[in-house]
Amino acid sequence: MSNTNNNFNQEILIKRNSLIQGDCLEVMAQLPTRSINFVLTDPPYLVNYKSRDGRKILNDDNSNWLKPAFAEIYRVLGRNGFCVSFYGTNQVDKFIAAYREAGFSIEGHFTFAKRYSSSSHFVRRQHECAFLLAKGHPKKPSNVIGDVIDMQYSGNKLHPTQKPISALLPLIESFCEPQGIVLDPFAGSGSTLLAAKMLNRSYLGIELDKNYHAIATKRLQMSS
Ligand SMILES: C[S@@+](CC[C@H](N)C(=O)[O-])C[C@H]1O[C@@H](n2cnc3c(N)ncnc32)[C@H](O)[C@@H]1O
Repeated sequence: MSNTNNNFNQEILIKRNSLIQGDCLEVMAQLPTRSINFVLTDPPYLVNYKSRDGRKILNDDNSNWLKPAFAEIYRVLGRNGFCVSFYGTNQVDKFIAAYREAGFSIEGHFTFAKRYSSSSHFVRRQHECAFLLAKGHPKKPSNVIGDVIDMQYSGNKLHPTQKPISALLPLIESFCEPQGIVLDPFAGSGSTLLAAKMLNRSYLGIELDKNYHAIATKRLQMSS
């Protein structure tokens, strides 16, 4: 794995293909520096979201975790590695401040186009967004993807903000080399982890909510 520092034995310190229940700040603090090849994450959007059926998202009502989380993401990411982070558009200033303070440069921006609208107020919301962040100077991917990606409706059955696997696959394929390890510290129902598994990448997930941790664990087991 060219992106990582090979001065330690990763296999001892990181259990590949695992999903840990806990606070990602505490769990990432135990991970070795530069031990991850690619981070793909969908953190709380800081909007105090409540789905139509009443489901809520932990830590969506405060930003205390935001800067410390991206500082840890930056530390554990390999030298010259990428992170793709979804974010809430009306809190973009807070997300950008956290990325920059951690040390990331902003190298691109993805629009995930939906044929449906997730909510409607002044406009019908028909897209999701994510930044492409870089640590150091990553190599150009061998397959360069477009920055507009189709986002099918996941159904949100497993999680109120469940991302469809199909929208995540091109990101992992492009930004994580085949032997690499993908981290999602805000794993939810495990969509990133399942996408990584489907592409034969290793994964490491962290999820605070016991219910979603159990759902994601079962989902991963059933995909075997
Ligand atoms: C936007 S959701 C991710 C949904 C996921 N992309 C999916 O497809 O299911 C963010 C998740 O982060 C979790 N979370 C919030 N704070 C956390 C923390 N400090 N550590 C780990 N997970 C956390 C929430 O419980 C929630 O499931």
